[in-house]
Amino acid sequence: MLIGRAKSICGELHLPGDKSISHRVAMIAALATGDTVIENYAVSSDCASTLGCLRDLGVTIERDGTTIKIHGVGRQGLSQPAGPLDCGNSGTTIRLLAGVLAGQNFDSILVGDESLSKRPMKRIIAPLQAMGADIESDNGHAPLTIHGGKMLRGIDHTLQIASAQIKSCILLAGLNADGRTNVIEPAPTRDHTELMLQWFGAKIDATQDESDGRISVKGAQTLKGVNFSVPGDISSAAFFLVAAACLPGSELTLRGVGLNPTRTGIIEVLRGLGVDLKIENETTVCNEPVGDLIVRGRTDDPMGSKSNLIGGKIIANLIDEIPILAILGTQLEHGLEIRDAAELRVKESDRIAAVVENLRRMSATVEEFPDGFRIARSDLVGARIDSFGDHRIAMAFAVAGRLADGETEINGAECVDISFPGFFETLASVVSS
Ligand code: S3P
Repeated sequence: MLIGRAKSICGELHLPGDKSISHRVAMIAALATGDTVIENYAVSSDCASTLGCLRDLGVTIERDGTTIKIHGVGRQGLSQPAGPLDCGNSGTTIRLLAGVLAGQNFDSILVGDESLSKRPMKRIIAPLQAMGADIESDNGHAPLTIHGGKMLRGIDHTLQIASAQIKSCILLAGLNADGRTNVIEPAPTRDHTELMLQWFGAKIDATQDESDGRISVKGAQTLKGVNFSVPGDISSAAFFLVAAACLPGSELTLRGVGLNPTRTGIIEVLRGLGVDLKIENETTVCNEPVGDLIVRGRTDDPMGSKSNLIGGKIIANLIDEIPILAILGTQLEHGLEIRDAAELRVKESDRIAAVVENLRRMSATVEEFPDGFRIARSDLVGARIDSFGDHRIAMAFAVAGRLADGETEINGAECVDISFPGFFETLASVVSS
């Protein structure tokens, strides 16, 4: 993919449905009794992996573009798949489905692509085993073989890592467990699973104080099919927000974006840097806050006036936005330092290494740390970039290419389909050069 410099970004977009929410609504609808119609289901190939697995588990799914109808089979109504369940590149699919499958009365095998097979799974295997599940893995990696027929018991589990995937895995397993399952998280993580279970009629208790958050679910609750509408993906919006914020003269409206407070760290950071970013038409749809975002291009060059360090509890809130924040860092007067983000090393690629390597190729000054990086204000120069097969790296550097002098070539650009098929075309539709 060849990318040239942009002058500004103007227009109005509706972005594809949120990936995290789409995975969850498909799984929870499958476990409900009755039908669920879902609007604006994510077009991403990750979310297609979730639908593929659910079909292999005997769930009937009808699809008409981004509207899908799921015929729920009930919490214990899934059936033994004929072969391994292919989770593709999707960490959310494998980790959440492992929670769903741990308490079923049949055996199943979860597999993934090369990248997913390298990602750590002990973080979900250990708590599921503590609940009584029987799981074999390849030394903590996929394939995961889940031997069914085990009665799970509720546990109290304190997360060592602030991860919504681990939390959700345990909560979904808790639905099929005897007694109550409590999860304690060290920092708030996206709470879509909790909000969605409530939308489908389950009772979930959640409390949050200064030191930690506690979520509690009782086993054997019945979920009822309901209609659902998926908001636009704020993680996809982030690429457009940063691109528009960095280009003077830009004015971009993004309609119907999910604004769940566990995901809006990116908005907080952009506003903290003085970006003109407004929220309009705020409302709540199916328990999820939604609104329109209006962003205007910068009026100062370089941007921002104070030193910028992002670390601590906010990291979990904007973990997927860090690659694009790195690109923003090159435009800030005092650059940007990211810390406490070692989790980035075990995402679809090692995102710390990928960001550092690609930014250096574009002539930026970058220092790498085990848990982040420091980026100095830099004039970006077009270069050959490697996506490392990671959708968010490809999209972040497509934006970098729009800010750089000369031409940028992104190798392996097709991986954007993982979360945003049509990303390059959508970006091009709002760019003036
Ligand atoms: C996700 C949680 C995050 C995030 C991922 C989606 C989810 O992962 O990076 O893209 O949908 O729960 P972790 O839970 O591993 O932090």
